[in-house]
Amino acid sequence: MRILITGANGMLAQSVKAKFEKENELILTDSKELDITDKDAVISEVSKLKPELIINCAAYTNVDGAEENVELCERVNALGPTNLAIVAKLVDAPLVHISTDYVFGGNKPITEEYSEDDEKAPESVYGKTKLAGEVGIIKNTDKFYIFRTAWLYGEGKNFVRTMLNAGKTHDEVTVVDDQHGSPTYAEDLTSIIYEAITKKIPFGIYNSTNEGYTTWCDFTKKIYELSNLKTKVTGISTAEYMENAKKPVAKRPLNSKMSKDKLKSAGIDVPTWEDALKRYLVKEGEING
Ligand SMILES: NC(=O)c1ccc[n+]([C@@H]2O[C@H](COP(=O)([O-])OP(=O)(O)OC[C@H]3O[C@@H](n4cnc5c(N)ncnc54)[C@H](O)[C@@H]3O)[C@@H](O)[C@H]2O)c1
Repeated sequence: MRILITGANGMLAQSVKAKFEKENELILTDSKELDITDKDAVISEVSKLKPELIINCAAYTNVDGAEENVELCERVNALGPTNLAIVAKLVDAPLVHISTDYVFGGNKPITEEYSEDDEKAPESVYGKTKLAGEVGIIKNTDKFYIFRTAWLYGEGKNFVRTMLNAGKTHDEVTVVDDQHGSPTYAEDLTSIIYEAITKKIPFGIYNSTNEGYTTWCDFTKKIYELSNLKTKVTGISTAEYMENAKKPVAKRPLNSKMSKDKLKSAGIDVPTWEDALKRYLVKEGEING
């Protein structure tokens, strides 16, 4: 299959490329080759390329930076996916897009999970623009998959790598302990995308994280436990963290728990976040397999 991957230099795109390149012809573009915010370029270029599938890995992902760069964030996260949906319909190619737990706002009681159709109430620029991107897709094409993920880590700079580096150089770290969600390994999100396409599950929106829930604080403790690092991990509340922040900080969802029932009903099972973390640490050479 001829697959166009946009945002091909990003973190998720690395595992998407690795998974899909064996059986498919990939066309890789990032902002230099195809700026997804440029509607005319998107329509003319993609019409010429005639992909059979478009996987959009492009996004503005700096959640705090978005609070100050509203216009750019809107262009990349809302206008960009809308442009891709318009051209996807024109060339009759399904569009795969990645969204986020931030669309919900996260104010549900911590004992409850979000299902796909729950009320959206984003509280950050990033969350609002990602929701607008979803709406732009739904309005412009029927053949789409929107995978809502959270706490993503994979190749390159990410939370696990940051905490490993901190653990190796500090005796103690302080980590937020009142945000609840599912760390998600980019390779497992990629497998969800791959299975959805190969099994031809119904088009639509799917919560797509690793299974199980934790906090950033407990996640860090697990990273250190598995890596045999003795660094002390101290919890801090989100409110306290925000008070101490030197730069503007976007509001984070306290509850990012997303039910995977819809994905399971479509025949896709996802590994737990603990299992995923172990595989990541082995792949990165941090622990033995
Ligand atoms: N990282 C997370 O924790 C997280 C959580 C939930 C959802 N997501 C979503 O997952 C997806 C992948 O995230 P990631 O962490 O791999 O992102 P990333 O920031 O690593 O990569 C994004 C890529 O998009 C490219 N890009 C930016 N503007 C562009 C434009 N105008 N045209 C074309 N390309 C452009 C960037 O150059 C970059 O290569 C995104 O949709 C993101 O919103 C990420």
